[in-house]
Amino acid sequence: MRIGVIGAGNIGGTIARRLALAGHAVVVSFSHDQAKLADFAREIGATASTPKDAAAADVVVIAVPWGAIDDALKQAGPLDGRIVVDTTNQFGEDGLVDLDGKTAARVNADRMRGARYTKSFNTLTARFQSEAAGRPKETRVVQWLCGDDDGAKQTIARVIEDAGYVAVDVGGIDACSVMEAPRRPGAVYGEEYRTVDAERVIDAVRSGKPIPPTPKYAA
Ligand SMILES: NC(=O)c1ccc[n+]([C@@H]2O[C@H](COP(=O)([O-])OP(=O)(O)OC[C@H]3O[C@@H](n4cnc5c(N)ncnc54)[C@H](OP(=O)(O)O)[C@@H]3O)[C@@H](O)[C@H]2O)c1
Repeated sequence: MRIGVIGAGNIGGTIARRLALAGHAVVVSFSHDQAKLADFAREIGATASTPKDAAAADVVVIAVPWGAIDDALKQAGPLDGRIVVDTTNQFGEDGLVDLDGKTAARVNADRMRGARYTKSFNTLTARFQSEAAGRPKETRVVQWLCGDDDGAKQTIARVIEDAGYVAVDVGGIDACSVMEAPRRPGAVYGEEYRTVDAERVIDAVRSGKPIPPTPKYAA
């Protein structure tokens, strides 16, 4: 697949590296320093280009700070019909941004109406994602996934697996707060999950019950 990454920093850079390693044609974009971006692209076997070019890929990864999303989307241009995976969290310069009861996924899906919006790769630090990618089946790390478009979610589930994780579908855009910031009791954000424990979370979410206590894994 062609994967267009908008924002190839900690998170986008890790995803780009993993997907290039898996054999995808990766385009990285959006930087204050195009020469640095080109060096990074060469290092990981990707191509450096513009957000507009990245937005033409089969899958578009959005991995920019919350405050840069509008700028990134403006540079990307229309995303109509594109499969997008949003990795962002609603942290501004003063900390967590108040979204007036909406999920961050809803706020962003509304900023890119017409895109086949999904959200994933947002719950774990970039460092942990990089270190934990590609583990064997028993210890493989979950990347939670949400969205309203089942076909788009299937594609992103494949991308998640190619990147070295297990995809677990939380549900729709308005019902995914369990995977969103901040880290807190009753949410999976900020916590490592493996498949069996993730399935228990999904059962609880679907039946409207509190999720089980956060699992602890031996290192
Ligand atoms: N870091 C984590 O552990 C983590 C974990 C989960 C989710 N997230 C979320 O993922 C998103 C990205 O976080 P990150 O830590 O990967 O950020 P980051 O390392 O700062 O990367 C952001 C990238 O976007 C580019 N960029 C930002 N503003 C720009 C602008 N105005 N013009 C051009 N390029 C611009 C930066 O390019 P240059 O620096 O090259 O200019 C950088 O490569 C955030 O929403 C964050 O909440 C982060």
